[in-house]
Amino acid sequence: MMQKGKGILAADESVSTMNERLAAVLVDETAEMRRVYRQVLFTAPGIEKYLSGVIFYDASMRNSTDDGVPFPDVLASRGIMPGIKVDKGTVDIPEFPGEKATQGLDDLDERMWEYANLGAYFAKWRAVVPISSTTPSEAVMVMNAMILARYASICQQEGIVPMVEPEVLMHGDHDVNRSEEVTTRALQILFATLREYKVDLKAVVLKTSMVLAGDGAKRQTPPEEVADATLRTLRMAVPYDIPGIVFLSGGQTPIRATENLQAVASRGAQPWPITFSYSRAIEEPVLATWKGKQENVAQAQKVLLHRLKMNSLASLGKYESKMEKELS
Ligand code: 13P
Repeated sequence: MMQKGKGILAADESVSTMNERLAAVLVDETAEMRRVYRQVLFTAPGIEKYLSGVIFYDASMRNSTDDGVPFPDVLASRGIMPGIKVDKGTVDIPEFPGEKATQGLDDLDERMWEYANLGAYFAKWRAVVPISSTTPSEAVMVMNAMILARYASICQQEGIVPMVEPEVLMHGDHDVNRSEEVTTRALQILFATLREYKVDLKAVVLKTSMVLAGDGAKRQTPPEEVADATLRTLRMAVPYDIPGIVFLSGGQTPIRATENLQAVASRGAQPWPITFSYSRAIEEPVLATWKGKQENVAQAQKVLLHRLKMNSLASLGKYESKMEKELS
């Protein structure tokens, strides 16, 4: 999963999230258009140069191309590992306003077995950590870490690599120091809990947020500070024996997510390989180019390849903003 210069595309939007993204570019919110959109992504020429994996959502893992080739096979035949998002989203916890628990543990062992048969090598589970003056609470961070540990242990029983994702949300007016404090604590709790429940850390990939000020903060964090705060946090909280760390984009613009990855990578080797696993920061420009039209497919695929190449270069510390012009 962790290959130098490659990342993992998170194409695992749930049906409702994918529908919102289609509606935003005036595409019909139908199962067929969701399938056609994923086909644009997965059949794009050259993506295997920059991707080691793709994360699916349940329905898209069962979809096929127009020619009837199942999507997981399309990717696997190009050396890209299929993965699957297995959580069933988040729900409110009335006693803890603003905080959420992630659902989906019931029947997970059976679903995991089925996903393994459909071709999944790894699975993803997302918990959210909202920052406000009253959140997150220690209690809910512990609860989500226990749920993540149970999920990771089921994955490992089924021979699937767990990707654990405690997403510290960017929403809010907090500064970068508060983001660092919360992310460090959330990761420390998570790894202590994974150890306690005997999850094999040598076979766990961490998907994490970068450490930066909230989207409503007066001062947005420049890339060098994002790199400092993020690497300090990871070194404080992440055991050195996990095999890799990938970043989510969390609402950053595509360029900003690339610049921040570049800033992290330019600090040189870390105890773990680090790369990207973006959804929005890769797919937004692709969707905006495609707009549901067959005549735009080739250009949308070029936009995808360009964004992947930029992030690949950034993961190697070789990205420069002038390279963005290559596409035009
Ligand atoms: P974003 O890059 O859009 O944050 O999505 C990544 C992801 O996998 C969220 O669960």
